[in-house]
Amino acid sequence: MKRSRRCAQALRPPPARAETSLDILLRPVADKHAKTSKYTADRNMPGAVEGETITRRRFMTGTAHTAGAIAAGAFTLPALGFAIGPIFKQAPHRWETVGKVDSFSEFNYTAVVMTLTPGIGEAGKTTVYMRKFNPAIDTDPSDRYTKFIAISSRCAHVGCPVRWVDAAERFICPCHGGVYDLLGRRVGGPPPRPLDRFYTRVVGEDVQVGPRYSVNSELQRFSPRDPGEPLDGIGQYLYPSRPSERKL
Ligand code: FES
Repeated sequence: MKRSRRCAQALRPPPARAETSLDILLRPVADKHAKTSKYTADRNMPGAVEGETITRRRFMTGTAHTAGAIAAGAFTLPALGFAIGPIFKQAPHRWETVGKVDSFSEFNYTAVVMTLTPGIGEAGKTTVYMRKFNPAIDTDPSDRYTKFIAISSRCAHVGCPVRWVDAAERFICPCHGGVYDLLGRRVGGPPPRPLDRFYTRVVGEDVQVGPRYSVNSELQRFSPRDPGEPLDGIGQYLYPSRPSERKL
């Protein structure tokens, strides 16, 4: 009995030596550039099968993720299309006859009503202040769209309707006291830019009003902006026009 215990002690492997920092430093490092086999069996992967290049677990995981991505895309992409699509839909330009050539003066504005959004009745109409181009006061570039000046009645602050006051030669906004001069430039109150304008053209004897555009304080043209959006300096980049708004 004594002998067998001694034998067992002799056969028992010596206790493992604790790894020192020198051992760690001298430990061989696997060459990450060494070419490994593409077969899982060669790479000693558990459960590897002869000729297999990808583990079944990885294959199933990849398939499940791909199926999930396709299903999610099938739900979200059409919804996104419906939500974002109208932003990029550009409506064709409309021109509307608002009067005869000789029905407008060079020195005073005449209010006309035109349709901005057809098909919604009175809600789609707006008032536009019209006069003939006057070279003594107007600085607009002379082109086929400046024979008549058409100024929007929508305040550039938050969109209240402004009114032309002939005696004061000012456009006055009743909401927050915005005041604009004869050319529609802001001279008082909170509006951040001049009143918007509309392109105009003459067809035969008729004066037609077309798409809206915005102007900065020097009356340079920009594609239409929403109320509250400045156009001077960096404002023109911070507040780009909507993708659906087309320049003429
Ligand atoms: S909406 Fe015209 S001043 Fe505010």
